[in-house]
Amino acid sequence: MIFNIKKDSMFNLKKNGFVLLMFLTIQFGFAQDKIPHLQKKGNKTQLIVNGKPFIIRGGELGNSSATSMESMEPIWSKLTDMNLNTVLTPVYWELIEPQKGKFDFSLIDNLILKARKENLKLVFLWFASWKNSMSSHAPAWVKLNQKKYPRVKDDKNRSHEILTPFSENNLQADLSAFQKLMQHIKDFDQNNQTVIMVQVENEIGMLPTARDYSSLANEAFDKQVPDELLKYMQKNKEKLVPEFFEVWKKNGFKTSGNWQQVFGKGLHTDEIFMAWYFSKFTNTISKAGKETYAIPLFVNAALNAPEKKPGEYPSAGPLPHLMDVWKAAGTSVDFLSPDFYNPSFKHWNDLFTRQGDPLFIPEHRFDTTAPFKGLYAIGHYEAIGFSPFSIESVTDAKKEPLGKIYDFIRQLTPVIENNKGTGKIEGVLLDKENKSQIIKLGNYEFTFKHDYTLNWSDAAKDEIWPMASAIIIETETDEFYIAGSGVVVTFKPLKNTSLNAGILKTDQGKFENGLWKTVRHFNGDQTHQGRHLRIAVGDYEIQKLRLYTYE
Ligand code: DGJ
Repeated sequence: MIFNIKKDSMFNLKKNGFVLLMFLTIQFGFAQDKIPHLQKKGNKTQLIVNGKPFIIRGGELGNSSATSMESMEPIWSKLTDMNLNTVLTPVYWELIEPQKGKFDFSLIDNLILKARKENLKLVFLWFASWKNSMSSHAPAWVKLNQKKYPRVKDDKNRSHEILTPFSENNLQADLSAFQKLMQHIKDFDQNNQTVIMVQVENEIGMLPTARDYSSLANEAFDKQVPDELLKYMQKNKEKLVPEFFEVWKKNGFKTSGNWQQVFGKGLHTDEIFMAWYFSKFTNTISKAGKETYAIPLFVNAALNAPEKKPGEYPSAGPLPHLMDVWKAAGTSVDFLSPDFYNPSFKHWNDLFTRQGDPLFIPEHRFDTTAPFKGLYAIGHYEAIGFSPFSIESVTDAKKEPLGKIYDFIRQLTPVIENNKGTGKIEGVLLDKENKSQIIKLGNYEFTFKHDYTLNWSDAAKDEIWPMASAIIIETETDEFYIAGSGVVVTFKPLKNTSLNAGILKTDQGKFENGLWKTVRHFNGDQTHQGRHLRIAVGDYEIQKLRLYTYE
């Protein structure tokens, strides 16, 4: 009898436990799906919107374009003509809180309503305390009350139009506006999920000196390095980025002391100190925002030139050499992002992703290389998304290569997201300096070459070659999708190298409602009689490829 009771209660416990687990999974799953969120898949991160994985085919508006609906009027069709699914648009503190505590969200509501009509999502950029180091978007009631809302001072005791991150009044003013904004987005938009992420501030950075010399800042500089940072450093000692690890090592891995005692004297310490306080400020307002509406939040960085010293570039921002400091100060900012106005695309993306963080590129100069780099980012880094800056500056949106590449990213999104984080996706980026790239995927080694290496066109003799790029996804054994422009691909078996690899079938086509539709079966001249897969410069295609081996 006793045995039976035990057995029964064990069974009930198991049964109830299982039911409870199912209930929690369903509840939690549903609750999560009710708002945009990030989700780990394998070793990568997905952005989930309306319950489905989402890749941002984005574009960021010029700074003043979204200040009125009238100014936006001619822009919307350009965005949809380029197959964007998301527009990154500033929201301006000065416009939403023109008087302290009095909010006007009409512009925000109209942007959301219009975006919905155009089938676009929005990433809001919170232009508040800092926009490119400066505080130009602070409302007049902040700018005009310097006593209450103090500024940064340089080493000559001169004030700048930069709010100091050391002031509690500055923090509370920004925080309460941000919280109101997030509350409003939640109330107005949660059911639709039009607003999918928010960038907190814009290109935070200290200029023209590496640190703030206001009295509040000086006081903090003489204090002990916060325990929170020191504990993070000790706990993550093996994982710290090498640049930061070296600074700490050089000074003897100290675990207590003020900023100069722990990190040494110099501009690098001024920068670390500022990075901590910028991140604390940003994480504090982000935390308040998330307590209201917990959609993904991120920050963006103006990249530094290696030959410049702190104070000569926007210092202390969310830069790769400071990423540990930024992360140690809080976890409410989900990730740090690079803005690209320099050509070293792989270099910087490698630095931003080296601790396994997701990659999102909110700004890239809208030059001829941008679309190709965007495709590469989604292939190689399995990025959450990409977004050229000043997206509305195009004259003939329908002809833009960006639109063509975004079109096949749109078609391939379910395939990419199904395979994300599993080592089945790669990206290729080629130009005249980097003519070829080898990729090992599944049972094959692929050699991707720039189309002009064939020398089949007179343009191949040109000084500058257009950029070329591709994404490759392995969907089954021996089956791959390759999409891109300007590439020629040959194949070898990986395992049995005495065999040859040949094309069993390659079809050019498209996805309609998630199903592949062949438009042309490629053979003959299109495959150089079976020798290669080619997507010429100027063509933008998806090809479905099946390979085989022969003796
Ligand atoms: C980077 C900034 O983040 C943008 O807002 C804009 O000012 C561009 N620079 C201009 O090139």
